[in-house]
Amino acid sequence: MSGVKALNLAQSYPVGRKLFSKPEVFRAVDTVTLDIAEGETLGIVGESGSGKSTLGRMIAGIETPTSGQVSFWGQNYAPVGTKEWRAQRRWVQVVFQSPASVVDPRWSVHAQVREALTAHEKLAPSEADDRAQDMLDMVGLGPMSHRLPHQLSGGQLQRAVIARALVLKPRLVVCDEAVSALDVSVQAQIINLLLELRERLNLSMMFISHDLSVVRHISHRVGVMHRGQLLEIGESTALFEAPKHDYSRRLLAAIPADTPRQRRQRDLQNFAAL
Ligand SMILES: Nc1ncnc2c1ncn2[C@@H]1O[C@H](COP(=O)(O)OP(=O)(O)OP(=O)(O)O)[C@@H](O)[C@H]1O
Ligand SMILES: [Mg+2]
Repeated sequence: MSGVKALNLAQSYPVGRKLFSKPEVFRAVDTVTLDIAEGETLGIVGESGSGKSTLGRMIAGIETPTSGQVSFWGQNYAPVGTKEWRAQRRWVQVVFQSPASVVDPRWSVHAQVREALTAHEKLAPSEADDRAQDMLDMVGLGPMSHRLPHQLSGGQLQRAVIARALVLKPRLVVCDEAVSALDVSVQAQIINLLLELRERLNLSMMFISHDLSVVRHISHRVGVMHRGQLLEIGESTALFEAPKHDYSRRLLAAIPADTPRQRRQRDLQNFAAL
């Protein structure tokens, strides 16, 4: 079975414990069921604290859910930390907001991409070099592959992170605010790069972002998170144009419309909703 299926995923965190009473828990994610098909990009939107990142970490298999299960191309994730789990790591990669915090300042980007590869595959040194360089070429960093992280711009660094994630040929990439820290013009370049690589590598993607127009642009389907629950999920255009829930309507109304006519219509709709 191809793709990712999450069934009744829940995550609770303890929130302090009073003496002699049961520990209280906060449900960051509350029974979420969804799937992501092979080659599909699922966008996730929702206000801060709604559980998007927590859901993303469980889908990526780097955090074990309190309950529920993720099936990844028909195989359940092994518990975090086990040997089986480590073997599964290469099939899913995560790209976070701030690339500087996930790269090693002492190593060239080539060395880091190569290291990611050789941690998972036994390769002849020259083959590892070539595969790392090919991947850096693909993200447009070919001529800069021997630079250290501090010698790169934020956008270039994010390209390096993407190269390191994709050199393992993952099936799924979870992008959590992957472009949010970048300038708008650089954001567009990184988005285009992700779109290109998604086609080339037939990637499934989970794309978490506050930027609704970016989510709309990149996603086939979009899910709306609200207080830990998946309020609704649907085909991107349909969801943005006709959300079913009031909450989604208010959240999605924040997006600038594409054309003046659409914008006018939206203004009227919002006005009518007041
Ligand atoms: N390890 C943790 N321990 C305790 N609470 C946590 C933990 N991780 C997340 N939470 C809480 O769970 C809720 C959901 O957090 P999460 O990071 O998933 O939200 P988010 O939708 O990604 O928000 P943002 O848009 O700000 O990134 C928040 O209230 C957060 O404080
Ligand atoms: Mg988050």
